[in-house]
Amino acid sequence: MRLDRKLEHIRLSLEQNKSNGYTGFNDIMLVHNSLPQLNWNEVDTGCTFLGKKLRGPLLINAMTGGHPQLENINFSLARAAALTGVAMAVGSQRAAMETPAARRSFEVVREANPDGVILANLGADCTVDEAREAVKMIGADGLQLHLNVPQELAMAEGDRNFKGILRNIEGLAQQLEVPLIVKEVGFGMSRESVACLHASGIDYIDIGGAGGTDFMAIEETRCGKKLNWDWGIPTAISLLEGLSVHSKGCLIASGGIDHALDCIKALTLGCSLVGMARPLLRVLMDASDKGLVGYLEDLIQNMHRIMLMLGAQKIEDLKKVPAVISGKSYHWLTLRGID
Ligand code: FNR
Repeated sequence: MRLDRKLEHIRLSLEQNKSNGYTGFNDIMLVHNSLPQLNWNEVDTGCTFLGKKLRGPLLINAMTGGHPQLENINFSLARAAALTGVAMAVGSQRAAMETPAARRSFEVVREANPDGVILANLGADCTVDEAREAVKMIGADGLQLHLNVPQELAMAEGDRNFKGILRNIEGLAQQLEVPLIVKEVGFGMSRESVACLHASGIDYIDIGGAGGTDFMAIEETRCGKKLNWDWGIPTAISLLEGLSVHSKGCLIASGGIDHALDCIKALTLGCSLVGMARPLLRVLMDASDKGLVGYLEDLIQNMHRIMLMLGAQKIEDLKKVPAVISGKSYHWLTLRGID
């Protein structure tokens, strides 16, 4: 059952509306700099994440694994990450805990990318032993723990009990040897959720906002009961919510981001890394391995170009670039008392 679901997730996510929903990034305007005082070669898009260098602050976010037919996809994503110098997370390794044959589709990721940043992935209700096994399986640099209540509730076979998850995360943070990255899967996190995670010892948080892949709709489509609720906190808004209580930690922006300008907007607001899932899967499916490498190279080049137009030499400098927030995002932030 779980294995077929993985294949359906790929198919249904690619069938979802091609144009993105509301992420809030259209409400963010960056202030152009006519006198950047920089040459092209001085601009550096690189950063360090979990002790390793990346050519761009980018993450191929968790998608798949756990089925023999998914081995090629994971290999291609990992190879593209290695060739372009970005980080990558595998999809949930739960299937590999239950079916040893499912391990291969995860293990290929480390083989395709021996030196890069690779993140393991499990639900936030996993045990310490499962977490250690997931990390060991792929020699991971960190472990993503996903939060996906709306997705579970939309699934006939989904979980219904969520009490104790925060305490479980706290226990994992105390006992695991690698950093934990707690992530949403496209519903966004409020500042209250981010503050709870921060208080539980979590530094790395992927706010996984709304406006991109909609897993509630995917699960409802699987059950034949689509409700079109558009649930969740849009990505840019969720990022600003999170930053208002966790500005010194490492926030990852993801959810509906598919071009360099939105990546730079997210970094200007204050995130440390930008994650992308379905847009990269779509490129891989439509344009092959070479196409995905080209897409990521273009993304890094275009980020470089925008940084020069803003007078930002390093990624860190983007946090000093002025941004103007208008529209629905401004309204939300004002009502929530977020500066
Ligand atoms: C996902 N996502 C996901 N997340 C996770 O933590 N574990 C998982 O196993 C999966 N599986 C998965 C499958 C497929 C096909 C997609 C497209 C996505 C969620 C993903 O990491 C991300 O949070 C959301 O997709 C939102 O980002 P995008 O797609 O809008 O960039």
